[in-house]
Amino acid sequence: MILQKEFESYLQEKVLEGKQHLTKEAMAYSLLDGGKRVRPQLLMATLKGYGMDPALGFPCACAIEMIHTYSLIHDDLPAMDDDDLRRGKPTNHKYYDEATAILAGDSLLTRAFEVVCETEVQALQIVDLVKQISHKSGVDGMIYGQELDIIGENNKNISYQDLLDIDEYKTAKLLTLPMVCAAIIANRKEDIPVLEKIGYYVGVQFQIQDDILDVTISSEQFGKSTSDQDNHKSTFVSLLGLEKAKQMVIDYDCLLKKELTKLEMDTSYLEEIFNTLLTRTY
Ligand code: IPE
Ligand code: IPE
Ligand code: MG
Ligand code: MG
Ligand code: MG
Repeated sequence: MILQKEFESYLQEKVLEGKQHLTKEAMAYSLLDGGKRVRPQLLMATLKGYGMDPALGFPCACAIEMIHTYSLIHDDLPAMDDDDLRRGKPTNHKYYDEATAILAGDSLLTRAFEVVCETEVQALQIVDLVKQISHKSGVDGMIYGQELDIIGENNKNISYQDLLDIDEYKTAKLLTLPMVCAAIIANRKEDIPVLEKIGYYVGVQFQIQDDILDVTISSEQFGKSTSDQDNHKSTFVSLLGLEKAKQMVIDYDCLLKKELTKLEMDTSYLEEIFNTLLTRTY
């Protein structure tokens, strides 16, 4: 992993800065000591591929990880997936209470925008970062995906394309974001269309794997509740079965690798992450 220890310290510093009180404690509870940090690693791997110092991406990677963590806290709430276990410990609303979990999520989202502004690039680049982060995590991004996911529950007539839409919005948008942000930081905006395609493939693939793991491993091993069947979620596993879903993961890997060759940068760092993700067990 790239600058793993340094990045963890940075997250801790940024989440705990200022006055200490309950909401901040609850933010730190979910943000720290857990999580695979896939999104921050994607950002740093892209920066490294551009020959830049990955530490330059810390504020932006921290912002994205904060937003991702907020999405998980709210995703686990009783009104959404109603889950008890996350990142190997009780979910935020189980450990604290629902009001605290809602506030912790809200605060991780808003704090993220404060932190990304600390990126040491030109002001106009920060404007681009903020636009990308708010768009891809917002109402026409991840939040739309969460809406589709909830609407998709109990839908026996859901189509292949409906499921692609759910996975694109709820998951691929936030996985695309770090690579796009790295291109902005590196002044390589011309690469964004290819990075968005890569993000789409890796995001859909990542969600299909998540859905496979949800029905094939224990929640202890997964570190989070496995509730898709109880919640009657519509996934590629429920639509096509396990074997076809596993084949999709392989197919998306081919698409992804092909797209990578279009980038003029050292893609080995990104490739290493994609290969590790392919065999993940949590
Ligand atoms: C979980 O994301 C939510 C999905 C998009 C499936 P991760 O699997 O990256 O969760 P953490 O960050 O490792 O906890
Ligand atoms: C989550 O999808 C996507 C988010 C935006 C949080 P899931 O509901 O499948 O994620 P997990 O399985 O709870 O991590
Ligand atoms: Mg969910
Ligand atoms: Mg969930
Ligand atoms: Mg899941």
